[in-house]
Amino acid sequence: MKKLTIAIDGHASTGKSSIAKEIAIKYGYIYINSGSMYRAVTLFAIENKLLELLNDNIDLFIEKLKDISINFRFNQNNLISEIFLNNRNVEKEIGSLEVSNYVSKVAAIPEIRKEMVKLQRNIDRRIGVVMDGRDIGSVVFPNADIKLFLTASDTVRANRRFEEMINNGLSVSYDDILNNIRKRDKLDSSRSNSPLIIEKDAVVIDNSNMSIDEQIKQIKQLIDRKIAN
Ligand code: CDP
Repeated sequence: MKKLTIAIDGHASTGKSSIAKEIAIKYGYIYINSGSMYRAVTLFAIENKLLELLNDNIDLFIEKLKDISINFRFNQNNLISEIFLNNRNVEKEIGSLEVSNYVSKVAAIPEIRKEMVKLQRNIDRRIGVVMDGRDIGSVVFPNADIKLFLTASDTVRANRRFEEMINNGLSVSYDDILNNIRKRDKLDSSRSNSPLIIEKDAVVIDNSNMSIDEQIKQIKQLIDRKIAN
């Protein structure tokens, strides 16, 4: 059976990773969350007190990040490719609001994007890949077989992220999450390098009033049609 490359881009907190993971499991594809890579770099910067350099010495900031290693290891128990920063599983830590508050600034740095895109393109696509992020259909895999763009109203997204974080035992405020989502959307869409855009050949899904199952059904139809052709 034909193995596809599926690019899922979209606004912050639109459920891209939940959808991508489910699709990957259904079709036996690899799932890679590219946002987790930018989040891991940001976590490293926070832990090593490098954030100040973001304002006054970007060159040194980039230099300090040169030797970090980022890779994914598949966890058989939850069926997720978990992210490792310098051989440490940071899957949980990268979800914090602190990381979310700085990640878009870090992700706007061209040198960092260049390295991340290189890692993303290194993935063996022969068994099929679902990758989610902001520039997957536009920059990483411009020839992807299927391009999706997910969006939803910002308040719906903030509510979902709030519930997810509370369920994970994190103490967060709804307003902080909403502000973070709005700020990231603005930064991600307006940066000069690889901004978040809707590709001409992307299928846009506004999931404000859709369940995960409804979205999966729609996406499965697209995939099955593509495989049959
Ligand atoms: O919170 P959400 O799951 O929507 O975001 P994410 O996918 O974890 O991405 C976190 C941040 O990383 C985004 O807000 C972007 O600033 C950046 N990012 C990017 O620039 N390019 C990508 N391909 C993926 C993420």
